[in-house]
Amino acid sequence: MKVAAPQGGELGFEVECRRSGHTLQVGPEESIVEALEDAGIPIERSCREGVCGTCGTAVLDGTPDHGDTVFTADERDAGDAMMPCVSRCSSGRLVLDV
Ligand code: FES
Repeated sequence: MKVAAPQGGELGFEVECRRSGHTLQVGPEESIVEALEDAGIPIERSCREGVCGTCGTAVLDGTPDHGDTVFTADERDAGDAMMPCVSRCSSGRLVLDV
């Protein structure tokens, strides 16, 4: 079920899931959470709209394109965590702690 439209980025991008050892392609019409779920990689999530913070995930490499309303400006600038239900990637590739 798609609730929130992906934010930012017309193109897909690659996500390396460091803990599970998977690398996924995230298409332009799907969220990272949807791609993880399709691959059978567990991730906690609730709102799917970038407002609850449940899906918060550490970013190990790459640059997130934040689409949530949870993080402060400083947290966005730090770029070391993201809400993958709505946020995208502006560096072509992300490495996440999932
Ligand atoms: Fe609520 Fe991602 S599931 S912020």
